Amino acid sequence: MKALVTGASGLLGWEVADAFEAAGYQTVRLMGRQSIDITNTPEIIGFVEKEKPDVIIHCAGFRDLDEIEKNEAQGFALNAFGTKNMALAASRTGSKLVYISSDAVYDGEKKTGYHEYDFPNPVNVYGKSKHMAEEAIRSLCQKYFIIRPAWLFGLKGHRENNVIFSIIDKINAGEQVLASGNQFCSPSYTLDIAEALVKVASTEYYGTYLVSNRGAASRYEVSRSIAEFLGLDGGKVIEAESGKIRLAKRAANTVFESIAFSRTFGIAMAPWKDALERCIAAYKKTGAGN
Ligand SMILES: NC(=O)c1ccc[n+]([C@@H]2O[C@H](COP(=O)([O-])OP(=O)(O)OC[C@H]3O[C@@H](n4cnc5c(N)ncnc54)[C@H](OP(=O)(O)O)[C@@H]3O)[C@@H](O)[C@H]2O)c1
Repeated sequence: MKALVTGASGLLGWEVADAFEAAGYQTVRLMGRQSIDITNTPEIIGFVEKEKPDVIIHCAGFRDLDEIEKNEAQGFALNAFGTKNMALAASRTGSKLVYISSDAVYDGEKKTGYHEYDFPNPVNVYGKSKHMAEEAIRSLCQKYFIIRPAWLFGLKGHRENNVIFSIIDKINAGEQVLASGNQFCSPSYTLDIAEALVKVASTEYYGTYLVSNRGAASRYEVSRSIAEFLGLDGGKVIEAESGKIRLAKRAANTVFESIAFSRTFGIAMAPWKDALERCIAAYKKTGAGN
C-alpha cells in the first residue's frame, strides 16, 4: 500500500508520514514547498497521477492565524484552493483522501463540547479557509475523511511555531511566555493523532470526524504544564487574554465531545495531560524532534 503525505516537513505531517511508514506503507513525503507547491494545479495533479497512492494524507496548510488574517489571499490559496487541488487529484486517481481540517471551523459560542453534528461558523480567515477546503472535498470526492483536530503539540517539523520549543527557548532566555487563559480546547499530541489516522485510513468509514486527546484545557494551562514537565520555571508562563495578545479573533471554546469518532473506529484517545507527559518524556529521551 502506498501513502502520499503533503506537508511532511510540518509538525503533524512529519509524524503522520513516520506513522504510515511504521505501519508498513510505502510512504511518499512531500516536504513542503521545496517538493511541490500544492497551489500549482497541473504540477500537483500530475505528480499524484504518476504516484497513484492508495491514500493521500493532506497535512499541508497555512496555520498561523494572525498571519493569515493579514494575508487573506495567500491563506485561501493554500488552505482552500490547494486542498481543492488535492481533492481533484484524489478523485482522478481513486485514492482515499484524509484531510486535516481544524477546530477553527467552529465559532466557540457553544457552552458544552462540540461534536460532528454542530454547524461550522468560523470567526476568522483561517477558520473560513479550512471550512471552504472541507466543502471542496465534499463536492469533489467520495472516498474522504475530513479530520478536525484541535490545538496540536508535538516534536516534529519546523522548530519555529512549535509551542514546546518556543517555551524552552523563551524561558531559557529569561523571557516570559504569554498564553491565553480564556481559550479552551482539547489539546492533542501529534503522535496520537497520527496513529489514529493510520487506523482511520485502513477503513472505508468515510465522513467527518473530530479527533483529539480527551479533556479540556486553556492555552495557559497547557503551556504551564509543558514548562513544568520540562522542569522549567512554570511561573514564567503568564496568563493573558487572547484578544489582548493575538490579532485574529479566536473561538473561546472548541472543546470536543465527539459522537462519531470512537463509535466508528473503536479508538480510545488518551487524556491530553497523559499525552503531553509522554511527549515531553520523548523529548527528554531523544533531545530532538525529527
Ligand atoms: N498545529 C495545530 O495546532 C493545528 C490544529 C488544528 C489543525 N491543524 C492543521 O493541521 C495541518 C498541519 O498543521 P501543522 O501544524 O503541521 O503545520 P506546519 O507545521 O506549519 O506545516 C505546514 C506544512 O505545509 C507545508 N506547506 C506550506 N505551504 C505549502 C505549499 N504552497 N505547498 C506545499 N506545502 C506547503 C509546509 O511546508 P514548508 O516546509 O515549505 O513550510 C509544511 O510542511 C494544517 O492543515 C493545519 O491547518 C493544525
